[in-house]
Amino acid sequence: MNAKVNITNRAGASFPVRRMNFDFNTVPEYWMSGSAGLTHFMTALSALFPAGEMFFIDSVRAVRQHPAIKDNAELQKEISAFIGQEAMHTQEHVGFNASAQKYGHDIDTLDRYTGKVLKFSSKFLAAVGKPFGFNKEMVDLTITTALEHFTATIATQLLSNPYLQELMTDETMKTMWLWHAIEENEHKAVAYDVYEGVFGKGVKSYTVRTAALVAAMVTLFCVQSYFLLRLLKQDNKLSLNELKIVYEYGYSLEKGVITGMSKEMLEYFKPGFHPNDLDTHSLLAKWKEKLGF
Ligand SMILES: [Fe+2]
Ligand SMILES: [Fe+2]
Repeated sequence: MNAKVNITNRAGASFPVRRMNFDFNTVPEYWMSGSAGLTHFMTALSALFPAGEMFFIDSVRAVRQHPAIKDNAELQKEISAFIGQEAMHTQEHVGFNASAQKYGHDIDTLDRYTGKVLKFSSKFLAAVGKPFGFNKEMVDLTITTALEHFTATIATQLLSNPYLQELMTDETMKTMWLWHAIEENEHKAVAYDVYEGVFGKGVKSYTVRTAALVAAMVTLFCVQSYFLLRLLKQDNKLSLNELKIVYEYGYSLEKGVITGMSKEMLEYFKPGFHPNDLDTHSLLAKWKEKLGF
């Protein structure tokens, strides 16, 4: 593996923090099966992560002293490890994004754009929610909880769909995505437990979290698709053929990464849903062993 792994569990949580230090210098420009469409699809996702994961960290950190959860020692440990893992993800995606930037793909603008979309969404929803008793911290936590369900679900797809794994032909990038996928599943319940701790399990809590998922998914789809098209266009690679490859990878019914997520995404709408209802223990054990964690 093209990374030095350093595993710590200072928080004493149910999962560790792994510092990876990937070397992205050897990653080829089109690291995914030599395809511009596939590579830019994943780069468009990666461009969302630095600002996105900092937003997750800030959202959870902002409410961790809430009276309903501040004395929950177990949850506090999980929050610390969650912050540690997301900080490491941010660091590695910044590293990869910089390596894509070196090839002339303008990720810096996409990173800034992600920050702006999050800031605008947070401000707008806080204004909408104010008459209903919501403040900015509650809005940000709700968005984070919804997006964490998305990241855990796409992570499960990457870990369980061999077709997607085969397309990741560069070992460094494959390891980076699988490491990130493992950790998204390890900490998938943290934001949710914080959310339920703060909001409870009533009708209001259910309505807000499910509405947030719909809004977050529509926004995410629009932003990621725009990023992909922008990357392809700037690279002079926007063609029907590349779009067909992307469509098959993302949206084909039999094996698409996004279509494959549908069933688990919908679980979020079940009253009484909890992220740990989706059992990924054996899947994680298999991949942790394969990656030597
Ligand atoms: Fe992450
Ligand atoms: Fe996460």
